[in-house]
Amino acid sequence: MTRHFLRDDDLTQAEQNTILDLAVELKKDRFGTRPLAGPQTVAVIFDKSSTRTRVSFAVGIADLGGIPLIISTANSQLGGKETAGDTARVLERQVAAIVWRTYAQSGLVEMAAGTTVPVVNALSDEFHPCQLLADLLTIREHRGELQGLTVTFLGDGASNMAQSYLLACAVAGIHVRVASPASYAPDASVVADAEARATASGGSVELFTDAAAAVAGADVVVTDTWVSMGKEAEKAERIATFGDYRVDSALMAQAKPDALFMHCLPADRGYEVTADVIDGPQSVIWDEAENRLHAQKALMVWLLSQQ
Ligand code: CP
Ligand code: NVA
Repeated sequence: MTRHFLRDDDLTQAEQNTILDLAVELKKDRFGTRPLAGPQTVAVIFDKSSTRTRVSFAVGIADLGGIPLIISTANSQLGGKETAGDTARVLERQVAAIVWRTYAQSGLVEMAAGTTVPVVNALSDEFHPCQLLADLLTIREHRGELQGLTVTFLGDGASNMAQSYLLACAVAGIHVRVASPASYAPDASVVADAEARATASGGSVELFTDAAAAVAGADVVVTDTWVSMGKEAEKAERIATFGDYRVDSALMAQAKPDALFMHCLPADRGYEVTADVIDGPQSVIWDEAENRLHAQKALMVWLLSQQ
């Protein structure tokens, strides 16, 4: 049966580990695995802006022997004139997989329901699961094991990154904490899903409103923009609300002395993180950005092998 990757918890812990192990192998030997040789085409569709996702999917598909077809929704029929379901039926006759960055998660669910080729979420309003594969790969590289680590996300708890942190870390057996203002807490159903997975994996899920308490003893400190794509009209209100969650050196000092700092980028220095932290010795943001390539290649190889 066709497997899709729409949310972080679409994978079991064993499958997540298999993909991360494969990413390590593909990182060592970039051009030796070519399941898209032919070349086959992968459609990569963007409703929102992107640098890292666009480049890493295009390069990764080429590394795997295929051709990336980058589609901007603004210049296609998707969105305005044609449904995701109909688009999926058209694409599946010609492409090996569909990668889509969009707004509502429901569009991805509709796309996946309508097609026999794998559909990959390249960021929605609710989740950013490809980023989390890269982040987990980066944490593994720097810390060895994922199981039992404590990872704290600070800022917009209702954002795609916070919610993907909850799910992906819960799958991985990590103790995941999210600190946010109460009015920006993660969706209750996502928290419940994460708690269920954490119970199975040996991880745990904790929500905080106090940033320092959430960071205490953490192995990894993560943040993201306070103004996600689509929320630009709320910028002033968000900047006024999130100040207590800024990651600065005083907050980092509450975590373990060798704690990693991570950020999916793009970053607004001086807002969600100070320059001394994001550009300092504990930051692993450039490894994290590179690992998008290796993690997504592994994901595509794995999804294609499940067909
Ligand atoms: N982190 C991330 O997804 O970056 P882009 O928006 O540049 O793709
Ligand atoms: N939360 C951010 C992530 C960008 C990669 C956004 O959705 O804009």
